[in-house]
Amino acid sequence: MGNAFLTPDRFDDEYFYHMKVAVCESCCTLQVIDIPDPDQMFHENYAYFAGTSQYMSEHFRVMSEKLMAEYVSKDSLFVVEIGCNDGISLQNFARAGIPHLGVEPSANVAQAARDKGINVESGFFNVETAQSITERYGHADLFIATNTMHHIEDINSVAAGVEILLKPDGVMVQEDPYLGDMLELVSYDQLYAEHMYIWSITSLGSAFGRHGLEIFDIERNNFHGGCMRYYLCRKGGRKPTERFLVQQAKEDELGLKRQETYVAFRKRCESARDRLVERLETYCQQGKRVVGYGATAKSATIINYCGLTTDHIAYISDTTPTKQGKFSPGAHIPIVPPDVFTENYPDYAVLFAWNHFDEINAKEKRFVESGGKWMFPIGMIEEK
Ligand code: SAH
Ligand code: TMP
Repeated sequence: MGNAFLTPDRFDDEYFYHMKVAVCESCCTLQVIDIPDPDQMFHENYAYFAGTSQYMSEHFRVMSEKLMAEYVSKDSLFVVEIGCNDGISLQNFARAGIPHLGVEPSANVAQAARDKGINVESGFFNVETAQSITERYGHADLFIATNTMHHIEDINSVAAGVEILLKPDGVMVQEDPYLGDMLELVSYDQLYAEHMYIWSITSLGSAFGRHGLEIFDIERNNFHGGCMRYYLCRKGGRKPTERFLVQQAKEDELGLKRQETYVAFRKRCESARDRLVERLETYCQQGKRVVGYGATAKSATIINYCGLTTDHIAYISDTTPTKQGKFSPGAHIPIVPPDVFTENYPDYAVLFAWNHFDEINAKEKRFVESGGKWMFPIGMIEEK
């Protein structure tokens, strides 16, 4: 399971599940099926602290400023964010003195947010939570979910909750990895237990459309390997923007509504896997040293789907102290601190954190100068 880095004493009782992916023929929702219990994924040892990345903090500062500017005239503004994590976005609202509430089931990150003076409730957002928040705080002007909506299996309960919670003219802002980008880049590593849905305008519009909400605007960005931000309101509440209409039409061109598209995607994943394994085995036979860079949650999908072992990848370098000294889920590749990498550069580094390429490549100039090469483990990106 992605993010389930473990110590050797846990090898024998390691949790495994068969990660199957399906697409709904009618609403075109793409999702991982038969996923683990949410308590198994979101708990007091949750590995992802969003605010540790300065790039992400800046991204969400800009988003928060933009949203605040739009709502500046409202005197009774109330903002709810689910999956607020360590407060990466809500800290901006808290600093501006705006009434807000975060809903966050992972206790460790929720506490990190509280330490920043943010109002957070522990728990999973669903229709019952929405009812309870509305009774205690009133309706929300703004409902935010970034990189969270694709983590929640019971999406109907979330959508019904948003329907209850939002003011009549309230807006929901949701952002996470975009299906169009995943299909184009063959970035199948976007899929893992926590990332059970990869949304599109078509599928998200359908899921929330059943609860009286519709998308009226979108924005794209390149974070996390390609994300879409969706703005939703109550049906008929706002005029759809041109860029939303253009992208909606583009989803037809991309074939998101045709089953053949997904069959072709599976074939492209298989050939990406075969190419990666073949190349790693060749390097292995040539006696080249190959390591991994970035023990991302995504890496568990690649490593286990491709059947990689410590014969292919000696170790994975990662800056996160809580991952160092542990082993990757399934394949048990050791996670080491970055000085192991910098003290003795390998010939190749498989860039599992490929979505952070610019930041990492700038930082690791000496690796490239010493003849080292990056290998991109997903479909459409080659060695650099
Ligand atoms: N919003 C941050 C963090 C995303 S990580 C960002 O964009 O970077 C996803 C977060 O969603 C985790 O902190 C996880 O604990 C939380 N989460 C998972 N299920 C949830 C649910 N049902 N309700 C609210 N938060 C949830
Ligand atoms: P993410 O893609 O989920 O944000 O995970 C990125 C992982 O990569 C995280 O464990 C930290 C690691 N990482 C490094 O080791 N070095 C780096 O320079 C960067 C940007 C990330």
